[in-house]
Amino acid sequence: MLEGHQPLEETRQGEATVVQGPGASGRKLYLESYGCQMNFSDSEIVASILADAGFQTTREADDADLVLLNTCAIRDNAEQRVRNRLVHFKANKRKNPSLVVGVLGCMAERLRDKLLEEEKLVDLVVGPDAYRDLPNLVGQVEGGQKAVNVLLSREETYAEISPVRLDKGGVTAFISIMRGCDNMCSFCVVPFTRGRERSRDPQSIVQEAQELFDQGYREVTLLGQNVDSYKWNIDNKGVVKDDKQPVVRFAELLELVAAVNPDLRVRFSTSHPKDMTDDVLHAMSRHKNVCKYIHLPVQSGHSDMLKRMNRGYTREWYLDRIDAIRRIMPDCAISTDIITGFCGETEEEHQATLSLMDEVRYDMAFMFKYSERPKTLAERKYEDDIPEELKGSRLQEVIARQMVHGKERTQALVGQVHRVLIEGTSKKRDDEFFGRTTHNTVVVFPKGDLKPGQYVNVRTTDCSAVTLKGEVTDELAQS
Ligand code: 5AD
Ligand code: SF4
Repeated sequence: MLEGHQPLEETRQGEATVVQGPGASGRKLYLESYGCQMNFSDSEIVASILADAGFQTTREADDADLVLLNTCAIRDNAEQRVRNRLVHFKANKRKNPSLVVGVLGCMAERLRDKLLEEEKLVDLVVGPDAYRDLPNLVGQVEGGQKAVNVLLSREETYAEISPVRLDKGGVTAFISIMRGCDNMCSFCVVPFTRGRERSRDPQSIVQEAQELFDQGYREVTLLGQNVDSYKWNIDNKGVVKDDKQPVVRFAELLELVAAVNPDLRVRFSTSHPKDMTDDVLHAMSRHKNVCKYIHLPVQSGHSDMLKRMNRGYTREWYLDRIDAIRRIMPDCAISTDIITGFCGETEEEHQATLSLMDEVRYDMAFMFKYSERPKTLAERKYEDDIPEELKGSRLQEVIARQMVHGKERTQALVGQVHRVLIEGTSKKRDDEFFGRTTHNTVVVFPKGDLKPGQYVNVRTTDCSAVTLKGEVTDELAQS
């Protein structure tokens, strides 16, 4: 899965995905995306901009005239994977000297000089706010120059660009609702790679959701590093100078998108515990088509550690937000992100993370060893002093605890009837479809004569750790 921060940040899912889409005939573009959902969503904007310049996407790197890697910098291993790919493409360049290789996304700004000059791995380096300049920059490279644009912007949201959907099934799609992040969590490189936070015009978001629905899509995920701080001033083209002016906040945006059609499911990512208000929770509970699933990264269960991380909340505050979710939507699934081995982490702090997990009992979690990132507050202020081995053993403990909770939460859904949106053929069996419940839990069931994009009620009969099995039924769904 991907990181919105689930920085959709580094391949939550960890997999590089080759994306493909329509485009004008002519030159061929091979695009590989790493990291968070936001990056995957950006790749669809890039494909759209380059389609207008005559590039058609291909799944075969060997056929391509232009190879672009949309990169992630959230942890060091994400960067290493991209470097390995670049070395690989450098070899391709020897076979095909006119091949243009470029780096996009979060590694661009930091590594531009290195990649261009020292290592001569790429021809083109383009940061996340400069994609409109791509056709021009590719032209420069074709004219024999190296080309760079890593300028960050305070305004760019690509609001009116209609993304080329590069995903598989045509059922689910991402919509970016904002860019950048102003939070400055001390471990995080995102504010440096993606710049200041800015929200996108709500009208363009609703229009995109409507167009997706009209094309047959049945689920949209609204993406931002911190969706709870979404705000758009109606009179002032988004710039919020004071709160007396009419402002669209995330709760209202959610309702606007939910109103597009009751058959369009709405998800979002990522929420921030310090900013998540009850308004958003009430908006979720009012609309059946807003999925009952919240990704609420905690990072650590100890207030001292949260302070060092500059997260802006305490353990108690976080648990109060969890209580609010459970109070307003008793049936809501909750997932989180956890970092082990951040600077100065004591055994007591580590135990506090485990005990918080026991209290919350997350449906799902993305768990990481701390990886020091250049320029961050932590790099400047704290020593990365937890030995790799201890970071790793703590991570294993956290993963083991999550496996217990995740299994318990999945098992609790067995024997119930869930409304499921069919997404496509199950990876394991050709005669089964997979889809998701409102809780984001995957369900597999026999295909019958159903089609992706349809909703079905499924009575669940069994489960593995994270996947439900079931049968389609006429019974009413309880979720
Ligand atoms: N090291 C490890 N994990 C990190 N994350 C962000 N920065 C780092 C880092 N330097 C994790 C956080 C965040 C998720 C997307 O990635 O848990 O929520
Ligand atoms: Fe998320 Fe904090 Fe990084 Fe912003 S600074 S992207 S809120 S982890």
